[in-house]
Amino acid sequence: MCGIIGILGKNEVAPQLVEALRRLEYRGYDSAGIATVDGTTLDRRRAVGKLVNLSDVLVHDPLRGKIGIGHTRWATHGAATTLNAHPHRAGRVAVVHNGIIENFRELREELAADGYAPESQTDTEVVALLAARAMDRGASPRDAAFSTIDRLEGAFALAFLFDGEGDMMIGARKGSPLAVGHGEGEMFLGSDAIALAPFTNRITYLEEGDRVILTREGAEITDASGRRANRSLARIDVGATQIDKGGFRHFMAKEIAEQPAVLADALARYVPGGKLDMPLDFSGVERLTLVACGTAHYACHVAKYWFEQIARLPVEIDIASEFRYRDPVLTDRQWAIFVSQSGETADTLAALRHAAEKVGKTVAVVNVPTSSIAREVDVALPILAGVEVGVASTKAFSCQLLVLLMMALKAAHDRGIMNDAALQAHLDDLRALPGLMNQAMTTADPIRGLADDLAEAQDILFLGRGPIYPLALEGALKLKELSYIHAEGYASGELKHGPIALIDAHVPVIVLAPRDALFDKTVSNMQEVMARHGRVLLISDETGLREAGQDCWRTIRMPEVPSILAPLLYAVPAQLLAYHTAVAKGTDVDQPRNLAKSVTVE
Ligand code: F6R
Repeated sequence: MCGIIGILGKNEVAPQLVEALRRLEYRGYDSAGIATVDGTTLDRRRAVGKLVNLSDVLVHDPLRGKIGIGHTRWATHGAATTLNAHPHRAGRVAVVHNGIIENFRELREELAADGYAPESQTDTEVVALLAARAMDRGASPRDAAFSTIDRLEGAFALAFLFDGEGDMMIGARKGSPLAVGHGEGEMFLGSDAIALAPFTNRITYLEEGDRVILTREGAEITDASGRRANRSLARIDVGATQIDKGGFRHFMAKEIAEQPAVLADALARYVPGGKLDMPLDFSGVERLTLVACGTAHYACHVAKYWFEQIARLPVEIDIASEFRYRDPVLTDRQWAIFVSQSGETADTLAALRHAAEKVGKTVAVVNVPTSSIAREVDVALPILAGVEVGVASTKAFSCQLLVLLMMALKAAHDRGIMNDAALQAHLDDLRALPGLMNQAMTTADPIRGLADDLAEAQDILFLGRGPIYPLALEGALKLKELSYIHAEGYASGELKHGPIALIDAHVPVIVLAPRDALFDKTVSNMQEVMARHGRVLLISDETGLREAGQDCWRTIRMPEVPSILAPLLYAVPAQLLAYHTAVAKGTDVDQPRNLAKSVTVE
């Protein structure tokens, strides 16, 4: 979603701004722009579409100046047009914004009554107009920005730049992330450490309500109550912010392939020396609520099976955007667990804030350890997936699953459901996981061979049962978001209650079915599809394929795995099917249309 960069530099900033925006591309965007102050003159350039279009504009119409702000926009209010692209400018002020200004309509009316008419359809433009009006009435840039921020409702990260001010910019954070980067005689603002990594490894994360005045000499931060705030300086591991494709054609391919390695990292962290080490004690907990969005929600869905089957601990799962509005019954005898790759998803963050005072403990299963969600929970468990750039979540999903599985094992042990020996046996199984994931990667070749056929389909169904049912949902989500083919996931037993009406010879039905206790039931449902001429692709292990693979349209062989690990392993063919089908269709695999990596609006 929208990305922000601000630079008070020693050199020409336009190329640096574009380079930083390139590092924010992974968040998803549909237009981009920069503004600089050259000497004392503020000017801007904007373009719709990919950054290359902005670069083209800058080649023909360069921007000079050693101070500037930049933005990648993911459209919320108003289409992706040049007029709606940021920076927005009014009078002497230029502004970039991430988030949503909820009271923009009333502010726009108020401003229009004073003769400050907008030229765009965006919510952001009122910010520039408010500040411009304040300056026209005699306010200093600082007072204009601060009085503007006071009027805003909603979520925002903001950066202000002023005509005539070659050594000052202002930032503010409420609800959307913003970080300050400290250089030598240079200062930076950015949505995340990835954007700032080429310039500095010294970063201060702004807290909720913070405002910052940046000059080349440093940063003056004030908190929500207007008092000077001392925020700590973190040294980021620049290696951890590397965002190259490492020889792969797409980030997604690289991230799928990284899964054995990152899962091994997570195992080393949580099972050092073969013993489970997790800073949670589940003994007195009566119930868990798991909350997340999208793929992370499907990880929660799998975890519900694990917590209930392994630890006999009741679990509710919620989609974050529904959670607080359904006004769930929450007590201090339950814990709420929030699962998020980015740690910035607005719905998940809002759900956390809703639950925080009501439940016994809040826990995050999160990839970005400095994110808002990681910082606001009682206990944050990092999933250690490393930077995930592809918009479609892959390695973060499997790392979320692994951490949730280890939590379920801990819960079972803490609650006396599982003895030491049984726990140890499961931990021994876990040691085999990276190797098994490597074996699952060999499904890439047969899946590539299928992709042209799948790419021609109008509709594709995924079926699964038990803890593999959420994998059917995840397989369908991945496929539709990457290849734009309509896909649905169903619990295999549910098919006959309606969706079977969709089956004909043109609809591929992908059955995810390890040879487990539910296999025979799934095979019966698969036969119902084949009896109606459905084209079944069965993904199972050698035993499963021997028993049921004969009349299938196609089969894919997976390694034999302990049942408890099957959801992690079956994530791989689900991801590869989506990836290769998207490549066959020629879609934008790493940045599918309309999608954003870090969804910071509700
Ligand atoms: C799908 C995908 C999304 C995210 C969802 C939550 O491939 O990536 O569905 O899983 O937007 O994002 P996080 O995990 O950052 O909260």
